Amino acid sequence: MVDQVRPGIVLDYTGMMQSPQNLKGFSRLELENLQASLDKAQISLAKQREAGGLDYSKLLPSLKSELTEIIDYSNKVAFKFANFVVLGIGGSALGPLAVHQALNHYYYNELSAEERGHRPRFYVMDNIDPVRFHELLQILDPQKTLFNVISKSGNTSETMAQFMIVRDILKRECGDHYAKHMVVTTDQEKGNLLPIALDEGFKRFVIPSHIGGRFSELTPVGLLAAAICGIDVNQLMAGALEMDERIRETQGVFSNPAQLRSALSLLSWRKGKTISVFMPYVDGLKTMADWYAQLWAESLGKRFDRQGRSVQVGQTPVKALGVTDQHSQVQLYVEGPDDKVITFVTLEKFRENKMIPSDIGELPGDIQFLGGHTLTELLIAEQKATEYALTLAGRQHQKIVLPSLDAFQVGQLLLLLEWETAYMGELLNINAFDQPGVEEGKNGTYALMGRKGFETKRHEIEEYGKIRYILDDKV
Ligand code: PA5
Repeated sequence: MVDQVRPGIVLDYTGMMQSPQNLKGFSRLELENLQASLDKAQISLAKQREAGGLDYSKLLPSLKSELTEIIDYSNKVAFKFANFVVLGIGGSALGPLAVHQALNHYYYNELSAEERGHRPRFYVMDNIDPVRFHELLQILDPQKTLFNVISKSGNTSETMAQFMIVRDILKRECGDHYAKHMVVTTDQEKGNLLPIALDEGFKRFVIPSHIGGRFSELTPVGLLAAAICGIDVNQLMAGALEMDERIRETQGVFSNPAQLRSALSLLSWRKGKTISVFMPYVDGLKTMADWYAQLWAESLGKRFDRQGRSVQVGQTPVKALGVTDQHSQVQLYVEGPDDKVITFVTLEKFRENKMIPSDIGELPGDIQFLGGHTLTELLIAEQKATEYALTLAGRQHQKIVLPSLDAFQVGQLLLLLEWETAYMGELLNINAFDQPGVEEGKNGTYALMGRKGFETKRHEIEEYGKIRYILDDKV
């Protein structure tokens, strides 16, 4: 049961299906029985796209034509600055981080300027821990740093607070030139960042208005950072476009990769697998697991369905890394509650390999078997062994195999995961593109920080805060 996704990503779902070792797996019939719902989902998604939704797919061709401006600007600034810092959170941070880690040298910032092709070091400040923020600013020379503040809404407290601190520093340190150290990525028409950018003359890139943060990696949100740090954004986009077309135009659960992955997710959800583990055996995809966790959690964790009925759906995404988590989490996956479904991500070819020496002379015999093998062989063996252990324990798992980790394949992977999330939203009959739970928290923060118009909310939170249960004695 291996589905060849043109031109190279393979979906291997053997571990989800019935086999002599796993009688609890799904049958082909169970997948076939979902076809009517998948066809309906495909029609509904096509209609939404036609009517102005699903911009992460619909706008790909026009975003591709924006690449020239992004690349031109990148070429203008990349060699002028020693550091490039993204200020943003959630969808405005995880995509840029994931693509950077997947495609650039793992220790990119530690390379010499020459080794980096004279491109800037790359930092993403997605949190507001004062120590981390202070210590980042401590190591950066503002005169040599370009900040990219990314916020679709232009209202997010964390990002706006960081922006205000950085703008203040830049004004003091760079005088009249401070605006040249700031590039703003925000909505075309709304939010607080836009008028500031226009007023102060910051270079500006637009996040199309109907693309939610977690679906925005292939907009200037992610493309600018990628281009500045030397990633081939044309190839990233080419991979995305190809996968997008394939998913939109292919019929049938056994051929359409997004249909297959969402159908398997739905079956596993119905079978009580409330946890979905994403476990790359590729260090470069560790942050991709963070990005995917946000995509899955924020899109699908919903209280109400489209008819307003309480449904409380959504698998909890868990990020793991092979082989590291074989020595941490896998015990739980094999022997703990049978509530998880695992997606492995593996590579056919790593860009480097390392031979384990066989001429080990006096070293003890029990490690001799490793000699003469490569680290890739060891990694693949570990992944296969974990797969087998899970199968023997009756646990379900599947695998996404990338031929290699390059910009084209990463573009493909992003679109595959975005589309499968959209499909899953349809199958669950929920809106995958809003995030009312996140908005509630944002509003609470505005209230507590004294924003006008949020006084009632502040009162509510203060009332709630009056009752506390705290251990009598200090420990
Ligand atoms: O996916 C989302 O919509 C969120 O994670 C947002 O990206 C995040 O809350 C940041 O919002 P904004 O870009 O408006 O600052």
